[in-house]
Amino acid sequence: MSHIVTITFSPCIDKSTSVSYLSPDIKMNCIAPKEEPGGGGINVARAIHKLGGDAMALYVSGGCTGKKFDQLLKDENIPALIIPVLRETRENIIIVDESNQQQYRFGMPQTPLSMDEWNQFLTKLHEINELKYIIVSGSLAPGVPNSVFEKISAISKEKKAKLVVDTKGDALRYALDSGVFLIKPNLGELSALAGKKELHTDEIKDVARTIIDKGKCEVVVVSMGAEGAMLVTSDLAKQIKPPLVERKSTVGAGDSMVAGIVYSLYNEKNFTDAIRYGVACGTAATLNPGTELCRKEDVEKLTPIVEVIDLEG
Ligand SMILES: Nc1ncnc2c1ncn2[C@@H]1O[C@H](COP(=O)(O)OP(=O)(O)OP(=O)(O)O)[C@@H](O)[C@H]1O
Ligand SMILES: [Mg+2]
Repeated sequence: MSHIVTITFSPCIDKSTSVSYLSPDIKMNCIAPKEEPGGGGINVARAIHKLGGDAMALYVSGGCTGKKFDQLLKDENIPALIIPVLRETRENIIIVDESNQQQYRFGMPQTPLSMDEWNQFLTKLHEINELKYIIVSGSLAPGVPNSVFEKISAISKEKKAKLVVDTKGDALRYALDSGVFLIKPNLGELSALAGKKELHTDEIKDVARTIIDKGKCEVVVVSMGAEGAMLVTSDLAKQIKPPLVERKSTVGAGDSMVAGIVYSLYNEKNFTDAIRYGVACGTAATLNPGTELCRKEDVEKLTPIVEVIDLEG
């Protein structure tokens, strides 16, 4: 049984294709589409597997598209805990315009969940033994109250598992109020949490420390795109910078990063090394086109050249 479980309230099939150029009114011929199982927690579980680890995906699945989704995940050998639901699993479309390599991402409405359906996440989570990490990534589906985090946090405490949350807005605020181990907001998400329009890099440490000092979480990792990330704990503040790379697509960078962080922490690496590895995973994901997550060989090449700058000295 995996010791890491990822929770996805709003999974989707990502269908990617391309056309020679995007134009209205004419019939455009697409290349054969590639289908991948997606959604925050799903991607984190897939990326952990790509790194050589083991994570189980707990998610909802419905209708014909749900069956297809389950098979796609099975094809990648990801252990799944499936909650059957009434409505179809959604499908998102990603189209690349080959004339300029621009990517267009069409997201379908999220599938709402009934109280009975989202309550099953809690029941299933409760049933898992020997959990070490619970990762909630992505948005809550319509119908799921933010207060679900109170229950997930309580289960994580009861099981002595560490709760890692990558979400935004009120859901993130609720998660913090309930108590979590680690959050990974990007700069915009942290600014919103602090009630500010934007945050300057030198304000990040103080904002993160305030959250930690209030006992809401132990670790804040603020991702900053090409600038890497800021790691803040009660006694550490470091900027972790990736090398300059030729970025193809940033889709999946945040999820690859969370995967790398949890994979390293699970393997008993310290915070600095874990975030360094996470940054390498995020940057590795940007080397690949479309929705592809990080590749382990790229992560291994990048990790030694990720720079660590101590901000406390
Ligand atoms: N342009 C880039 N060049 C190099 N690395 C990048 C770039 N964009 C993202 N990354 C890597 O991915 C990590 C996470 O990216 P980012 O800060 O964009 O997260 P995010 O906004 O949560 O992303 P997502 O849209 O996937 O949720 C960064 O810390 C960095 O390591
Ligand atoms: Mg993100």
